[in-house]
Amino acid sequence: MQPRIRRSRPPTNLRPFSGPLLDGPERAAARAMLYPVGFTEADFQKPIIGIASTWSRVTPCNMHIDQLALEAEKGVNANGGKAIVFNTITVSDGISNGNEGMKYSLVSREVIADSIETVVGCSGMDGYVAIGGCDKNMPGALICMARMNRPAVFVYGGTILPGCLAGPSASSRGRELDIVSVFEAIGQHAAGKLSDAELHAVEACAIPGAGACGGMYTANTMASAIEALGMSLPNSSAQDAVSPAKLDDCRRAGAAVVDLLRQGIRPREILTKKAFENAIAVVVALGGSTNAVLHLLAIAHAANVKLSLDDFTRVGRRVPVLADLKPSGRYSMSALVAIGGIRPLMKTLLDAGRLHGDCLTVTGETLAETLADVRPYPPTPAIVRPFDRPIKKESHLVIFRGNLAPEGAVGKITGKEGARFEGKALVFEGEETALKAILGGGVKAGRVVVIRGEGPKGGPGMREMLSPTSAIMGKGLGRDVALITDGRFSGGSHGFVVGHVTPEAYVGGPIALVRNGDRILLDSLQRTLTLDVSAAELARRRKAWKKPAPRYTRGVLAKFAAHVTSASQGAVTDANLTL
Ligand code: FES
Repeated sequence: MQPRIRRSRPPTNLRPFSGPLLDGPERAAARAMLYPVGFTEADFQKPIIGIASTWSRVTPCNMHIDQLALEAEKGVNANGGKAIVFNTITVSDGISNGNEGMKYSLVSREVIADSIETVVGCSGMDGYVAIGGCDKNMPGALICMARMNRPAVFVYGGTILPGCLAGPSASSRGRELDIVSVFEAIGQHAAGKLSDAELHAVEACAIPGAGACGGMYTANTMASAIEALGMSLPNSSAQDAVSPAKLDDCRRAGAAVVDLLRQGIRPREILTKKAFENAIAVVVALGGSTNAVLHLLAIAHAANVKLSLDDFTRVGRRVPVLADLKPSGRYSMSALVAIGGIRPLMKTLLDAGRLHGDCLTVTGETLAETLADVRPYPPTPAIVRPFDRPIKKESHLVIFRGNLAPEGAVGKITGKEGARFEGKALVFEGEETALKAILGGGVKAGRVVVIRGEGPKGGPGMREMLSPTSAIMGKGLGRDVALITDGRFSGGSHGFVVGHVTPEAYVGGPIALVRNGDRILLDSLQRTLTLDVSAAELARRRKAWKKPAPRYTRGVLAKFAAHVTSASQGAVTDANLTL
């Protein structure tokens, strides 16, 4: 079905960028280059629509996206455009987490945004579809769409199916697995609760094929946020990666971007402040990843929308957590797909006055119009609770402030780990030493693990602490140990964990001044993160503090560190450019 665009606007120039590139005798050389890649004479009269593919065999999240790109190409060409498929990079957090290579992860978001901009800008593309299936390529694509403001539609690559354990342990056989199961199995193995053979069985079965990590981790969170923003077609966020529905989504997205071009609808008309509030509301109701905070701030920056950490608190006070999804809950994304995806949940939020129904979407319709015919979820299984019987009455994404995080910090507090935590600091300079201590039994109940030197500048790259948090869970310490960091978390992390502590240690934030044994209080009800050390003592420590030497002085990590802003501003790289 073609998306229906009802807005009446005067026809616009459909080739504002490809026309100057390709028209006239003086552009003959440019046209000559395009015949070999499939252009006919007639194609030079059509708008050029890019298809930004994140295909690679680096990771299963994106290994099918070449096929999806071909479907999007068909959709463009069938609706009067001329599609050109091109690639950008992708990396995999699932593979890199816990390793030095993970420092490139957040960097890749910026590289992806920059690379799509580079190709679209250089090639005179009048609009484009971007297809992403992993944590950073999705916000990277959206940052570019907001930045360039050419008609664009995002397509989510889709979720993976759960793995199924068929190993030697009769007790756990048949259990559904995903990548976080493996990270937590590492902790169980270190605690002596899992044998070598059982760990290997989990490792070998957890990832059955193509698609993004299968809980409400960062990829599924961002896919849902992007649909709520209005930048993907209805239901794009909730389809299995390998499914007829996903192929259809791609064809319709290709057609939709040509229609957007005809109507002159550009991303910044869609990416309004209200649209970001809708995205926050949906992320909260789904129990989504803390990374949504970082990425939505970055996309908003690119769209020239003023969004701050306080907006997450403001919106989150009115929105309950409704979905019982992993990592804190029981169900996988594919289970949510099977009962109708996120649209019934969005309808519930709309009916409760928690979404702005008048926001425009890439269909050309308002959000309310796209949700008009949505039916409620079936009564069982109870993957999504009714609005008046939530899992948590307000947001699990808690913005903490206090003398340990004057510019803010982000925690994912579902309530299962309790509302307050008080303990003595155990400080680590970087993730590796912390992980070693946790796995080696050096972290006991009552401790607040402090991992610093992992911020956007200091890391650089703000690594995700999935390995340490999973090790804590695997060790059975999830309710007894808290973890704070100036790095961030995977969507798969759970427990009493607070990240994005700002200012970060590298720039002399208070987290740099914490010492072993200091008392730290985390209060999710008061939203405070407090270091119980006197101001005079902190002043003494600050005087003695020395800024560490940068870890990288050349290459992309050094460039990122030089330009990146604080996590409280989305960790973007184009905010402070001066010529
Ligand atoms: Fe790609 Fe998780 S590593 S979605």
